[in-house]
Amino acid sequence: MRQDNSSGKAYHEATKHSYLSVQLDPNYIDASTQPIAFKVYPKFYRRVKLNLNNKIHSFIWLTSAVTLEKVYNNVPYKLRVNPSAGALYPTEVYVQIRGVPDIVDGIYHVEVENNCLTLIYELIDDGLESYIIPNKSISGFIFFISSVYYRSSWKYKNRSIRYCLLDSGHHLGAIAASAYLHERDIQLIFDFDKLALNTALGFENKEFITACAVSGEAQDQKVRQLRLQVPFVCGTDYFEANQFIEDSYQTTACQTSQKQQLKQPQFDFEPDKFYQTVWNRRSIRRFRKESILQEQYLYVLQKLEQSIPTENFEEVEIYSVVHRVDGMLPGLYKGANLIKAGNFSEQTGYLCINQAIARDCGVIFFFVCEYTSYQTAMQIAGFLGQRIYLVSNYVGIQCSGIGAFYDNETQQFLETDKDVLYAMAIGI
Ligand SMILES: Cc1cc2nc3c(=O)[nH]c(=O)nc-3n(C[C@H](O)[C@H](O)[C@H](O)COP(=O)(O)O)c2cc1C
Repeated sequence: MRQDNSSGKAYHEATKHSYLSVQLDPNYIDASTQPIAFKVYPKFYRRVKLNLNNKIHSFIWLTSAVTLEKVYNNVPYKLRVNPSAGALYPTEVYVQIRGVPDIVDGIYHVEVENNCLTLIYELIDDGLESYIIPNKSISGFIFFISSVYYRSSWKYKNRSIRYCLLDSGHHLGAIAASAYLHERDIQLIFDFDKLALNTALGFENKEFITACAVSGEAQDQKVRQLRLQVPFVCGTDYFEANQFIEDSYQTTACQTSQKQQLKQPQFDFEPDKFYQTVWNRRSIRRFRKESILQEQYLYVLQKLEQSIPTENFEEVEIYSVVHRVDGMLPGLYKGANLIKAGNFSEQTGYLCINQAIARDCGVIFFFVCEYTSYQTAMQIAGFLGQRIYLVSNYVGIQCSGIGAFYDNETQQFLETDKDVLYAMAIGI
């Protein structure tokens, strides 16, 4: 029996784009008012400078690294291992480290701008386990992803609840990729009392936890809750509250996801090549309208079928609209099944708010889902999105996430009642 997910659906419904809504509110903003995208704690906090030659440091660094700096229209951009809607980067990462040689047991903030860990809380007999997996102690790492939502709502207003969650899923995917490269398993956890954790971390209304990822050994041992309040530092230089975002987060924070058995995915990537892929991952800005090979397309599909390492799950279904794949009939597919044949490139270009990448790609994927937990569903969509980026780049084709589409018209095109969560284009 499915749980009531009406609140998740209602928030998704309320943030739908339509031809009219985009005409009425084209989202123009003054770039000079963009809030800062890097959180930095005051300088008196103790820091560990990350060193890529140290395996543990490099594991943490690669979860969030800046990989390209460029200036565009006089504005400097720092692009990262994880993509982000509008390059606004609402996500932050904290990591609890326990029982790791040469590192003080504590909760650290990953300071992406300066490649260091900032110790924000020292552990004694307390820790964050009790908020996520009661009666267990983790020796190793627990990553927490949060969202400094104003970085995204500054531009995308109410629709940014979607982007905060999709970005969080991408960031979990970046953590999974770094774990793979460092020969570590991880487990994603979505179902826990996020609201209690926000309070413990002192986040006020300005930041909220979306998920966590555990990489370590669990022991049966009760860990007490944090003995002190963690000091709060705002992740932006100024802040404007958005009541819709706060309500949508709060109401969907503790919805329970579907359950599945934990299973680690099995990949056979060549380590050096995959390492380069992680460092060089980028979004394509324009496709050349060339065909991709069928084996490249099938390789991406095959990797998408690999498991997602979590017990909390939502079944995200993927439609492929094939425009240009050698040896394949253009049309709308679900897996290997052709639903309708035809060249729909102009139509998908229109559906994605007239974006040329959705028209000129080889294939565009649409992710749909009927969920019990909205937050889990969106983050799993983002997690799979990160996998598509990396696998595509790994096999020499390009990729971009697409968060902007006319929702109802896309559902009609796909002939589904399920919510459309995300789209991704691949091609050359
Ligand atoms: C959730 C999400 C939605 C996105 N939506 C779009 C989109 O609609 N159109 C587009 O051109 N790029 C889109 N992107 C790509 C971002 O613009 C890109 O990730 C960002 O500029 C950073 O560049 P990089 O991915 O090359 O590091 C999206 C990315 C994410 C993660």
